[in-house]
Amino acid sequence: MVGIVGLGSYVPEHIVTNADMEKILDTSDGWIRSRSGIVERRFAASEQASSDLAAIAATRALEDAAMSPLDLDLIIVGTNSPDMLYPSTACLLQSRIGATNAAAFDLQSGCPGWIYATTTGVQYIQSGMYRNVLVVGAEVITRMMDPTDRGTYVLFGDGAGAAVLSSVEHGGMKAFELFADGSLAQYLTLPAGGSRRPFSRDVLRERSYYTKMDGQAVFRFSVREISRISKKVLEKAGVPLEEVDWFIPHQANLRIIQSGAQELGIPMDKTVVTIDKYGNSSAASIPVALDKIYREGKLKRGDKVLMVSFGAGMTSGAILMEWSR
Ligand code: ACO
Repeated sequence: MVGIVGLGSYVPEHIVTNADMEKILDTSDGWIRSRSGIVERRFAASEQASSDLAAIAATRALEDAAMSPLDLDLIIVGTNSPDMLYPSTACLLQSRIGATNAAAFDLQSGCPGWIYATTTGVQYIQSGMYRNVLVVGAEVITRMMDPTDRGTYVLFGDGAGAAVLSSVEHGGMKAFELFADGSLAQYLTLPAGGSRRPFSRDVLRERSYYTKMDGQAVFRFSVREISRISKKVLEKAGVPLEEVDWFIPHQANLRIIQSGAQELGIPMDKTVVTIDKYGNSSAASIPVALDKIYREGKLKRGDKVLMVSFGAGMTSGAILMEWSR
């Protein structure tokens, strides 16, 4: 089996509270808390990009694994806010941490980026091609949000989480489920800056270099997907719901998390919530939340962890993992 042998995360030091948002937008602490559960979020410093956050999380994960960067065979970064369109953030990270033996690529699949990256990394190890794979979710996603759009700007935060995958003797990844429906792509897009709509005066005027989101459509998709894909992955793993020790959903909105947990029948004391402190850090949200309960000493060997995410694409993904350490 393949499991996590090292974990690390990093959130920027700068805290932006709802009161700070009230100063720049027509919004209120009460609206943000009641509609999303967010109290504060972290913003990267102006000189920080996703690879900088990723490098700190990756270094912590390698330390935790007691491994050298030279031990890595492959780096996969799940991100929706790469440092630039190319080269990949994974290549920049490879150079930053000195992982000179590792191949590197980015994987863009919306907020489930780390779930997709982990699923992919495991296949490389199980096929026998590689031994040690670093999978990272890293975002400075706040820079993709329009500071004048109260419907998106208040919801997001920056962060990075990293895991070293390798063969394990106990537990490990038991089942995966990935899903995509590209016909729903228009729900959540960053329209400009790619080959369809390169930068121009029109793009600047329209502000289409920022994220556009149909919040209610994303909400409905997310609530449906959390329970549907979770049930599928549990069935694949042959693990009954009562045996799940930790439920780690993507942190997009507390109401989505609560209704997903309720629909599945998982109590909130088994559900990991970080959205109040970190907002939605997109592909980083699940590895950051996993690292949080790990560092707090809550994860025990044999614990069954259900991780589920949803986002732009539209995509969703779930992993059932047995903690091996
Ligand atoms: N402050 C005050 N009022 C606001 C704000 C704000 N920050 N944002 C929107 N409003 C207003 C709207 O303009 C609207 O006003 P109107 O009725 O006068 O038109 C009113 O509040 C209600 O807006 P709704 O969109 O209906 O509010 P809703 O209850 O749906 O909550 C929210 C909006 C929080 C965006 C919710 O739909 C949501 O969380 N959706 C999912 C978003 C999400 O998860 N996105 C990311 C997922 S994938 C990824 O992570 C990349």
